[in-house]
Amino acid sequence: MAYGNASGVNEGIFTRRESRVRSYARNFPVRFVKAEGARLTAQGGELYIDFLAGCASLNYGHNHPALKAALIEYIERNGVAHSLDMETDAKAAFLENFESLVLRPRGLDYVVQFPGPTGANAVEAALKLARKATGRRNVIAFTNGFHGVTLGALSCTGNSHHRGGAGVSLGDVTHVPYDNYYKDGSDTAAQLDRMLSDPSSGVDAPAAIIVETVQGEGGLNAASFDWLRKIEKLARRHEALFIVDDIQAGVGRAGSFFSFESVGLKPDIVTLAKSISGYGLPMALTLIRRDLDLWKPGEHNGTFRGNCHAFVTAAAAIEFFWRDRSFEESIGAKGELVKARFERIAERHSAQIAGVKGRGMMLGLDMRSGARAGAVVKESFARGLVIETSGPHDEIVKCLAPLTIEEGDLVRGLEVLEASVESTIARELKEAA
Ligand SMILES: Cc1ncc(COP(=O)(O)O)c(C=O)c1O
Repeated sequence: MAYGNASGVNEGIFTRRESRVRSYARNFPVRFVKAEGARLTAQGGELYIDFLAGCASLNYGHNHPALKAALIEYIERNGVAHSLDMETDAKAAFLENFESLVLRPRGLDYVVQFPGPTGANAVEAALKLARKATGRRNVIAFTNGFHGVTLGALSCTGNSHHRGGAGVSLGDVTHVPYDNYYKDGSDTAAQLDRMLSDPSSGVDAPAAIIVETVQGEGGLNAASFDWLRKIEKLARRHEALFIVDDIQAGVGRAGSFFSFESVGLKPDIVTLAKSISGYGLPMALTLIRRDLDLWKPGEHNGTFRGNCHAFVTAAAAIEFFWRDRSFEESIGAKGELVKARFERIAERHSAQIAGVKGRGMMLGLDMRSGARAGAVVKESFARGLVIETSGPHDEIVKCLAPLTIEEGDLVRGLEVLEASVESTIARELKEAA
């Protein structure tokens, strides 16, 4: 089976009928017909290794057999597919597993809200609830944060490309520098504390501080544990709710089920989506400190809060992967392998590569320029690897391989990436000579 180099391009029906808003299809112009584990197959039979994994929505890979079997069994017995927010056996099984295998072992007692099935919806619910609970309007969000593109979530998102699509003002959010934003060692947590303590700073008392422990879309910026602890503490001191957006970094991606476990944080609200269903099916959660569950029935609702197929695969995934610590250990080992390889590549090309970024299995190479990172992505795709960029200038080549990827596929993908970096840099040097 050949890797990459598919001949077919996305022509015809897509360019004729689909909106120009499509984006990933432009970087990967082939028609995919099959997916298994960390491998995608295009129409002509060409194989691709998937280091994008639905942008961290497929942490357990494509069509994991244990999840697929549970879903097929459920569909075969005419299990309820759509249930609004009514009780179903599928939802009960998910909540039971989530309670016994995720929350309790971690000493957490969140009430689970099922908002609409996207990450942005989980964030909308979190923001609304924080404002309702505190009676305050302002929210503190961070530079390079990404929280989704619906208006409330977008107001917390930094990226001007996405903000530009809003068409209305995006208010009631103050954006402040994330950890290491200035790259000069300055303590941005202390700066925020100072602003919030000064009644004349012009920053309104916030309902919440919303933060990603590792900024995925913002460029794999991993905050230091010390900084995160300071942010949590100052949220408490200023009576703001502490929201961790774990939509991309959670469900194992940063190394543990919740990205904040190893940091020792206890957020008031947590948002989860992407890989929570485990199968790429739409599902999102807003986890709420018990005493903050101030919703009136149906106050934040939505037709697709009861995607039972997603509950089935989510319950199966928790049962299969999170019963003991072996999965977590395997993520750690794979993360080390990727990191070591990335460090070698970065050291070899320190003029072109600023370094390795991220944490766990959420790692990237800072190529110092969007054009260079884009060229690496293009070259990788031609050689059979699906990988994307992130960061304010799209300058980070971002590896989000499935956490379940077999070592052979992982190593092969890394080899393709390394070869693509080499040839991109060689071409650049030749052109400059
Ligand atoms: C941290 C974070 N929050 C929220 C979102 C939005 O999720 P969705 O695209 O499902 O609306 C994303 C998506 O990339 C994300 O990475």
